[in-house]
Amino acid sequence: MLAAYAATLAPDDPLSGLVVGDRPTPDVPDGWARVRVKAASLNHHDVWSLRGVGLPADRLPMILGCDAAGVDEAGNEVVVHAVIGDPHYRGDETMDPKRSLLSERFQGTLAEEVVVPRRNLVPKPAELSWEEAACLPTAWLTAYRMLFVQSGLQPGGTVLVQGAGGGVSTALIRLGSAAGFRVWATSRDEAKQARAVELGADQAFGSGARLPDRVDAVMETVGAATWSHSLKSLKQGGTLVISGATSGATPANGELNRIFFLQLRVVGSTMGTRDELERLIEFCRLTGVRPVVDSTYPLAQAAEAIGRLVTGDVMGKIVLTVD
Ligand SMILES: NC(=O)c1ccc[n+]([C@@H]2O[C@H](COP(=O)([O-])OP(=O)(O)OC[C@H]3O[C@@H](n4cnc5c(N)ncnc54)[C@H](OP(=O)(O)O)[C@@H]3O)[C@@H](O)[C@H]2O)c1
Repeated sequence: MLAAYAATLAPDDPLSGLVVGDRPTPDVPDGWARVRVKAASLNHHDVWSLRGVGLPADRLPMILGCDAAGVDEAGNEVVVHAVIGDPHYRGDETMDPKRSLLSERFQGTLAEEVVVPRRNLVPKPAELSWEEAACLPTAWLTAYRMLFVQSGLQPGGTVLVQGAGGGVSTALIRLGSAAGFRVWATSRDEAKQARAVELGADQAFGSGARLPDRVDAVMETVGAATWSHSLKSLKQGGTLVISGATSGATPANGELNRIFFLQLRVVGSTMGTRDELERLIEFCRLTGVRPVVDSTYPLAQAAEAIGRLVTGDVMGKIVLTVD
């Protein structure tokens, strides 16, 4: 079958290890299901994998991709939950010490077929297109958990979203505004600032700009480049939720004095549970909110599509479609 996979790892030239070519059709272990992929969305995770972050060389070749929507062997339309845990673990799957994401230990979704534990399949409602449904399991689920599980935000509160153009960030803007939060967003790019306002942000600013007021919570995925600004933007007792560090993990100023003196909360967040994915899908169905799709490419053009994530030339999600 056709697949986009990491054949080698290259920290400084991630696209050099990417191959779009033939891989064996996967076997289906007991309790697992085969999904014929209709659409798969890209995440920055795919770039990290090609750089060798979270993907050791002894697991290669590895098909990339965390997110898919498709059809199972019984003909059901499904969305794939990307967190693969220990089948004996009970409780919040994101807390399972043995959990991994698709494409870390098990072959990913940028392929004509993917196999996953049957419990990882969630029904896809007819209202969502294949492309929209394929955006939900990683970026949108992460945004849902950051906003509605980790932040402590209440409707009417103000939230700052750093790096407006990203897959997670556009989800935070759409979900936050639909939930009645005042959303402020930053971006390095003026056109993306304008687009953030179209998506529902109350106001958008350049990266690092002084804000009109302090905020109740900050959603951080950019990391080192925005960390100091994020902490300086919080009210006394405010909450910073972090789920990524695209620009680096070592900020020049960690703002440690500010964290304890203003009693700020710094909360880590990763992915979301299967139940949260079901609630996110229901949220989209009830509110009419839909994922922000930057563009779609056929699977065969995966290299061009992933290149857009490497350069940061993206506003929302890039989706690969499979015939
Ligand atoms: N923990 C989890 O479960 C989880 C889940 C999903 C994602 N993540 C992580 O979260 C991060 C975002 O993921 P994504 O898929 O949304 O990525 P993405 O679509 O590639 O977006 C990255 C965004 O970060 C901003 N950015 C990048 N470098 C920057 C810099 N130097 N200064 C300011 N802004 C910068 C850009 O926003 P502007 O161009 O608008 O400035 C860009 O659009 C990644 O690191 C990813 O690994 C973690």
